[in-house]
Amino acid sequence: MRTVLGVAGGIAAYKACHVIRRLRELGHSVKVVPTASALNFVGAATFEALSSQTVTTDVFDEIDSVNHVRIGQEAELVIIAPATANTLAKLAAGIADDLLTATVLTTTAEVVVAPAMHTEMWQNAATVANIATLKQRGIHVLEPAVGRLTGPDSGPGRLPEPDTIVDFSLAAAANAHTSAVASAGTGRLHGKHLVISAGGTREPLDPVRYLGNRSSGKQGVALARAAARAGAHVDLVAANIDSGLLSDLPDSVRITTVESTLELQTQMHASQADADAVIMAAAVADYRPAERTDSKMKKSGDEGMTLQLIQNPDVLVGLVESRRQPQIIIGFAAETGDSHHSALDYAKAKFRRKGVDLLVFNNVSGDRAFGQDDNAVQILTADGDDVVAGTEIHGSKDDVSEKVIEALADRVECVESTP
Ligand code: CTP
Repeated sequence: MRTVLGVAGGIAAYKACHVIRRLRELGHSVKVVPTASALNFVGAATFEALSSQTVTTDVFDEIDSVNHVRIGQEAELVIIAPATANTLAKLAAGIADDLLTATVLTTTAEVVVAPAMHTEMWQNAATVANIATLKQRGIHVLEPAVGRLTGPDSGPGRLPEPDTIVDFSLAAAANAHTSAVASAGTGRLHGKHLVISAGGTREPLDPVRYLGNRSSGKQGVALARAAARAGAHVDLVAANIDSGLLSDLPDSVRITTVESTLELQTQMHASQADADAVIMAAAVADYRPAERTDSKMKKSGDEGMTLQLIQNPDVLVGLVESRRQPQIIIGFAAETGDSHHSALDYAKAKFRRKGVDLLVFNNVSGDRAFGQDDNAVQILTADGDDVVAGTEIHGSKDDVSEKVIEALADRVECVESTP
């Protein structure tokens, strides 16, 4: 993506260097547009070296390339970090007296501002009104962090950390793209209804304890985002997922939270009826305590304790049995190999046992673990009597999700074209 990073004149301008680095690591180009005051804190040479692009601040620099309109027109995302009270005031008033403010006036891309200033300035009625104006115009405002400011003082007004700025900005751009696809009706899954389970179920033992697993829900949330980007309406059944992960999902994703396997099962069956596809990405507990006590369990002497567990239903198999064709059902399988069979052999057997259309097989042999950002999977499908594995997909959970949603869209189109 072509990003523009505006940098206003504040002590936190040094953090812009880390924002440039992170954006470039993620494969985005960065055109840095500092204000003249920002260059008192970080030199143009630093910005040029980090971004590999020339850096100018004035509308009269490089006038032959008409920078004051071109940069804004070409941008796909504009981030201003840090944004000072002065720059925010100029943006709210529509002033364009330098290259950065002119860029914001000419762009049609999403604009994200990350304000940073002393608490008194942030809470001043003028800044409060300017922020309200900018939000009303659709500019995304990343609230400042609370903490140590330039001097000995501390309070709200600190620039959030570079990774937070980058994550917030990319989510703003992705969500805008999702809304545009949905309203234009151009995505491959436009008008389709998907039900996706994510996270890990917890089985309560007493009011304060549970048996659970380490699934973060990142993969299922990434799938929901990818499906929404493809134009689908998504019901996300979220089992014990951190609220921060769920907070940046677009409006076309409806979230229902559940805790235990039985709750998940009930919710999945309720949502399944009119779905075009169901994806079971949740890590489901295979067993639950036979008994759940209403009061906190107490130790009894020095003896150990034995928990009696009973088996949970296989939610995925139940969904396959109760589906109405041509609903497509996708399962997930994280497998390790052993001395008898490879991880892939186990995945193929699971594909048959579960009766799914596609199985996303994650080889977790070695040090690949739950909760990591990157993933490596193969998508298993049936070819007559054989189960075939696609080529390995490496990348972030977002990359993997894109491929899974593409495979689903291929299947949907194939089903629709079959008389
Ligand atoms: N699954 C489910 N209900 C269960 C267990 C698993 O719906 N009680 C689903 C998972 O969401 C996933 C797929 O089945 O999509 C495979 O999960 P996995 O834990 O690998 O399968 P198990 O049937 O538990 O097999 P294993 O004996 O290997 O643990």
